[in-house]
Amino acid sequence: MLKGKHIILGISGGIAAYKSVFLLRLLVKEGAEVQVVITPNGKEFITPVTLSSLSQNPVICDFFTANTGEWHSHVSLGLWADLMVVAPATASTMAKMATGVADNMLVTTYLSAKEHVMAAPAMDLDMWAHPSTQRNIEQLRRDGVEIIMPGSGELASGLSGKGRMAEPEEIVRRIKEYFSRSRDMEGMKVMITAGPTCERMDPVRYIGNYSSGKMGFALAEECAARGAEVILVAGPVSLATENPAIRRVDVESAVEMCEAAEKAFADADVAIFAAAVADYRPAETAETKIKRENADEMTVRMVRNPDIAARCGMAKRAHQTTVGFALETDNERLNAAHKLEKKNLDMVVMNSLRDNGAGFRTDTNRITIFGRGGSVTEYPLKSKREVARDIVDAMLLQRRGADATADLSDN
Ligand code: C5P
Repeated sequence: MLKGKHIILGISGGIAAYKSVFLLRLLVKEGAEVQVVITPNGKEFITPVTLSSLSQNPVICDFFTANTGEWHSHVSLGLWADLMVVAPATASTMAKMATGVADNMLVTTYLSAKEHVMAAPAMDLDMWAHPSTQRNIEQLRRDGVEIIMPGSGELASGLSGKGRMAEPEEIVRRIKEYFSRSRDMEGMKVMITAGPTCERMDPVRYIGNYSSGKMGFALAEECAARGAEVILVAGPVSLATENPAIRRVDVESAVEMCEAAEKAFADADVAIFAAAVADYRPAETAETKIKRENADEMTVRMVRNPDIAARCGMAKRAHQTTVGFALETDNERLNAAHKLEKKNLDMVVMNSLRDNGAGFRTDTNRITIFGRGGSVTEYPLKSKREVARDIVDAMLLQRRGADATADLSDN
């Protein structure tokens, strides 16, 4: 799969450098040509002899080879590479990458890299959580670097938390995904709503729901990976986006979500409504905290929220495709088919709360897709990222079908 691909593996000075040996081994096994560039501190953790033996290439650390006076050209290295992967990326190396402090071969090469760059951070949990690290990661994302997020677990310090470098197998998976991404959504603009909405009652309380936003965020990553420009209108969730092609608009209430979604929809080719939007909101929002009083009961008068999917569905123009979700507890098929019509959607993705592993907060989903022409396709239980791929594949197929029909009627 990676045969003939030129990959620069940048190793900086963290204990996770030992995992990079396995990463290098896997890349070479997949047929990649790997050039290792290591920082002076990286060499303290892992020896260049190990790395050059595995990569079959001399390891680059210094700007010059002292005894021969040979100069290592970071420029030609940058041009040679199809991809640069910095793993582990320490807090210090990321800070240098974010600000362009090119005082070693790794960062200098990064500044010369023409193609895609990935970074797999690894550090202790407090370093990871520090605002300066988070700022630098944000900057790198804006600069187009794909961050392969660290996992949580036992750390070299003995503490436990976030900061463990992603496993070599996961990094290889992301590298393969990068090379295999067919850019079949290049030039497309996609608007996605995700997460719950929070409907304020007073300054400390709201009415909300259990949506985690995971499905909508997975869809955003999938579309962006396939070349689309994505606007993700997100309710309050604790998720981060990874692909820099995703522009995120954070909102709180259904009314705010509606405003942002309609604005983005005007310019979109595709809209996917994955948010769990509250149907009603409190009629009044109290300026100050509502007191308990002495009553045993309390009544909150609610008013109807706008139906974002339906509003966009009604305003839809010929080149636009809309995809809605139906999360049901009963009469699933009937409700899903009804939604397709009522909201003028091109596709409804149905999941049932009756299925194990499907629905809110899970990392998996089991879906059935209802198409405009009456098609019904059932899928097995999969990860939300894989489900996102299925949804996008089905949506593109439906668009092509619609285009073909339009072409036929044009003739
Ligand atoms: O009618 P129901 O809420 O079951 O429809 C679900 C679909 O409609 C989802 O795609 C959801 O994102 C969308 N929706 C919306 N605005 C609402 C309610 C639902 O966009 N106010």
